[in-house]
This record gives sequence, structure tokens and C-alpha cells, in this order.
Amino acid sequence: MRTPFVGGNWKMNTNKAAAVALASSVAEGVARGQIQASCEVAVFPPFVYLESVGAVLKESGSVVQLGAQDLYHQPDGAFTGEISAAMLKDLGVSVVLTGHSERRHVLGETDHVVNQKTRAALDAGLQVILCVGEKLEERERGETDAVNLRQTKIGLTGVSAEQMLRLTIAYEPVWAIGTGKTATPTDAQAAHRAIRSCLKDQYGPAVAEGVRIQYGGSVKGSNAGELFSQGDIDGGLIGGASLKADEFLAIVRAASSSQS
Ligand code: PGA
Repeated sequence: MRTPFVGGNWKMNTNKAAAVALASSVAEGVARGQIQASCEVAVFPPFVYLESVGAVLKESGSVVQLGAQDLYHQPDGAFTGEISAAMLKDLGVSVVLTGHSERRHVLGETDHVVNQKTRAALDAGLQVILCVGEKLEERERGETDAVNLRQTKIGLTGVSAEQMLRLTIAYEPVWAIGTGKTATPTDAQAAHRAIRSCLKDQYGPAVAEGVRIQYGGSVKGSNAGELFSQGDIDGGLIGGASLKADEFLAIVRAASSSQS
């Protein structure tokens, strides 16, 4: 039985006051809903608000985890503007995204860079959500599985079976992110199934069955239940809808009652 995992990726949104208010509403809603055992929840504020959001979560004794949207793979040095795994841990971050589609396709990160970041985060003891997903033209060319499997395989090069216990995959079709278009539950399930069988080839059945695979791409309170009821969908990575506490909490509730 995999515990569903829901992440709220705030991207480059909020300001300090809004970040603090959103974090406290989410923490309060999660505490009220008593979902601790049935769903894991994390929020991913912009780097500059990590400390303030972390303080809110800590003060309220929340189970909501503090996540970061990115990291740099080097431990320290002359890398202007970058943030290391150790710096994130210093602020109480426990989980970090790697390979988000905006980092790949807006900021030009290659599969190799995503792999370096994934390994650096895992080596530092962080949990990782490795994001994969095909672009519209790749889907139209029938390359959905090939792209996802390539991104998964290269992203995980050099990652040990033991480290896989701290890794989640987020399948996020690029054409569904922030567009209001969602993959059908059947299409999403098929992509998740293909990713899980790739994990099986790489790590064997026990690891493959234990790794959570989130769906991401225009998830809302109204479509979350149907997506999360699919056998290989273990929660979601939420962008736009994570900026409204009520909507995000509705998604968390859908995940917590879905237990795949
Ligand atoms: P969206 O973003 O929910 O706004 O589509 C998802 C994501 O980018 O993780």
C-alpha cells in the first residue's frame, strides 16, 4: 500500500505575507482534516520565503513538509545565484523537486543536469520528486512512453535502490501544465503504468511497487478524485490550484480517501 503524496508547487507566486497566510491555512486545514496517516502533504514556496513558511509549519507543529522547487548539484563554490542541498536542509527543507517541466523547457535543463541534481539531493539525505512528462508534439508523434522512460532512466542513473525509498516521480504531461487541460484518468494511468514497469526493469518489483508516482497538470478539486482512484496514481503535484488553500485542501482530501 502506497501512501498518496500531494505537493503544492507555488512556482514564482505569492509575496511574503501571502506565502505565510497560505501556509498557515494549509497547515490548519490538514490538521483539521486529520489526514496525517492517509496522505503526505508538502508545499514548495519560492526560495526566498522558505524560512518564513518553515517557521509557520514548525510553530503550528504541522505534518506538512517544507519543499524547495529546485537546487544546484554542487555543494558550494562560485555558482552565482544557485542554492545547494545543504542550504535547503539548513532551512528545514525535507523534499525538493527536480526536472520540473518549466526548468527543462523554459530554463533549458537537460536530462543529465536533472540527474546531477537528483543525485545531489538524494546524497544529501533529501527526498526528491523527479518530474517527467512529454510535450504535446511528442504525444502526437506517439512518443509519450519513450520520452517518459528516457527522462526516468537518465534521471535515475546512479541512484541506488536504497535511495529510491526517498524518491517520488511526478508524471506531468507538459501540455496539461497550467493549461486547464488534464490527461484523462485512463491516459494518465497508462503513462504511470509504463513508468512503473520501467522502474521494475531498473530496480525490481519491490522497489517499483513502493515508489509513488504523482500526476500533475491542471489537477483541481473537481477532477482529483477520479485521477487518484487509478491504481498507479499516488497523489498529485499541484500548481495553480495549490495557491488557493480551499482548493488545495479539497485535492488533499481526495488523495487521502483514495489510498491505492
Ligand atoms: P498546474 O501545474 O497544476 O498549474 O497545471 C502543475 C505543475 O506544474 O506542477
